[in-house]
Amino acid sequence: MQRREFLRLTGAACLATLAKPAFAETIASRTIPGTSEQLPVIGLGNSNAFRRGDVEASMEVIERLMQFGGRYIDCIGDSRYVAAEAARRLEFGDVLLGAYFDLEKPEIAKLDVARLAGDSGSMTLMNCFTDQVDEHWGVMQGFKEAGLTKFIGTARHTSDYYDTMINLMKTGTLDVLQVNYSMLEPEAAERVLPTALDQGIAVMINRPFINGRYFGVVRGKTLPEWAGEFDCESWAQFSLKYILSHPTVSCVLTETENPIHAIDNLRAGLGRLPDEKMRRRMREHLLSLT
Ligand SMILES: NC(=O)c1ccc[n+]([C@@H]2O[C@H](COP(=O)([O-])OP(=O)(O)OC[C@H]3O[C@@H](n4cnc5c(N)ncnc54)[C@H](OP(=O)(O)O)[C@@H]3O)[C@@H](O)[C@H]2O)c1
Repeated sequence: MQRREFLRLTGAACLATLAKPAFAETIASRTIPGTSEQLPVIGLGNSNAFRRGDVEASMEVIERLMQFGGRYIDCIGDSRYVAAEAARRLEFGDVLLGAYFDLEKPEIAKLDVARLAGDSGSMTLMNCFTDQVDEHWGVMQGFKEAGLTKFIGTARHTSDYYDTMINLMKTGTLDVLQVNYSMLEPEAAERVLPTALDQGIAVMINRPFINGRYFGVVRGKTLPEWAGEFDCESWAQFSLKYILSHPTVSCVLTETENPIHAIDNLRAGLGRLPDEKMRRRMREHLLSLT
């Protein structure tokens, strides 16, 4: 081999090594409708590590998110500062932070945005509880127009809020809806997700494990061997892959303070997803265990 050819090949190999992410595996992403923003399919919910104010433990779970190419973190209250500080220490430059603000006091909310958004000056997502939409949606829109947030959204976790969510989606001002949906809480697929699809609204799903209750149903049960047909390795992934295989879902929020659980959850964003026939089989199987 000519020297020049050798240098060309080894140089290219060097660059390829540098460009390679820490993990060879990167989870799938979906586009936020109407934008070019890519949202990785597994996000982090408001971890107990954030709630406890434990920055080191928060860094442990957020680092797992980074390693799998995840980006979105959902947080509220003082947890926001803990998650943002952990992300800052990890130099997590392209983190997407979604948070709630005290909209009764817009001036304080503006200071909070400045504290959380850092140099960019803009949040990724400002969320408003669905029961506060009537009062605060105008303020949310004003924040977006002022460039303090890229997206505005509403979030809740029971069917009591579905009518309000549907009405808000029809105003054309909502960017991101966060709602509960899983095999054991399937109602949103009938009532809410069709409107989100029609209106082109990104959907984040909360309560994938019904705040842990799901594991009470599957504990001690053997994962069916046919779960391997859609690259499912665990009961956590069984729920997450079911949710992600709904065509309207953009991203699932998973809450954990355990880095091993975080890896388990993130791995649901790799590989195949169940098709419609398999989804029916999954749900029947899960219901048979209840
Ligand atoms: N805006 C709203 O109204 C609203 C309401 C509900 C939820 N949310 C958002 O949605 C997120 C998720 O919903 P959720 O709070 O109902 O929590 P969830 O993700 O459904 O369940 C969390 C529970 O599951 C456990 N867990 C997580 N991954 C696991 C795994 N791989 N194996 C075994 N156990 C596992 C966690 O324990 P460990 O910590 O021990 O892993 C925790 O007890 C929240 O954090 C929040 O960001 C928003």
